Amino acid sequence: MKNIKIETERLILREYKMEDIDDVVEGLNNINVSKWLANVPFPYTRENAKEFITYALNNKINSYNFAIVLKSENKVIGATQISNINFTHGTAGGGIWLNEKYQGRGYGTEAFGARINFAFNELGLRRLENGYFKDNEKSHKMQLKFGYKDEGIRRKRFISKATNKLEDEYITGLLKEEWKNKKDSKLNKYYLVKYL
Ligand SMILES: CC(C)(COP(=O)(O)OP(=O)(O)OC[C@H]1O[C@@H](n2cnc3c(N)ncnc32)[C@H](O)[C@@H]1OP(=O)(O)O)[C@@H](O)C(=O)NCCC(=O)NCCS
Repeated sequence: MKNIKIETERLILREYKMEDIDDVVEGLNNINVSKWLANVPFPYTRENAKEFITYALNNKINSYNFAIVLKSENKVIGATQISNINFTHGTAGGGIWLNEKYQGRGYGTEAFGARINFAFNELGLRRLENGYFKDNEKSHKMQLKFGYKDEGIRRKRFISKATNKLEDEYITGLLKEEWKNKKDSKLNKYYLVKYL
C-alpha cells in the first residue's frame, strides 16, 4: 500500500515512525485504553511498541496503520487502522485508540471520519467491519454517529491480551450507502480531508 498522509482540521494521519515509540507507550500503557483492545498487552513496554511499529512498517500488503498526530502538539495521540482489505469483496476491518488524556474532545470522531472517507472514497471499498467489547459505549456511540449498524455478537471471540478475560465481540458494519456523509450532516467538518 502507498504511503498516505491525511490531514484534517486538527490531526494528521500518517505512517508510524520509530520516534513515535514513547508516545505510543504513553497511550497504550494504560489499562483504561488497552482493556478495550484485543491485542495490546498490559503493561505495555517500549519493546512492545518497537515490535509493533516494525511490524506495521513491514506489513503493508492489505492494511494501513496510521499514527494519529495532534498538529498543535506534534504528538502521536493514538492510532487507527484499515486492515484485512479485500478488494475482491470491497471490505476491510480496523480500529482506533486514543491516549486517554486526549479522549472526549472529538479527536476520535475526526480521525475515524478521515479513515472512513479514505476507505470509501480513495480505496473504493463498499463495506467496513468493526466491533467493540461489551460496555464500550464511547466506541459504540462514535460508530453509530457515522451510520454503523449493530450486526450481531460473536461469543467469546477474544481473549483480551490486556486483561486475559474472554470477550464477546459486538460486531458492527458500515455500508457506503449508509455512511452519514451528506452535505447537511453535522459530521461534515470531519470530511474536510487533504491528502499530503
Ligand atoms: C473510542 C475512542 C476512539 C473515541 O474517541 P474520542 O475522541 O474519545 O471520542 P469523541 O470525543 O470523538 O466522541 C465520540 C462520541 O462518543 C461518545 N462519548 C464521548 N465521551 C463519552 C463518554 N465519556 N461516555 C459515553 N459516550 C461518550 C459521544 O457520543 C461522542 O459523540 P458526541 O460528542 O458527538 O456526542 C476513544 O475514546 C478511545 O480510544 N477509547 C479507548 C480505546 C477504544 O475503546 N478503542 C475502540 C475499540 S472498539
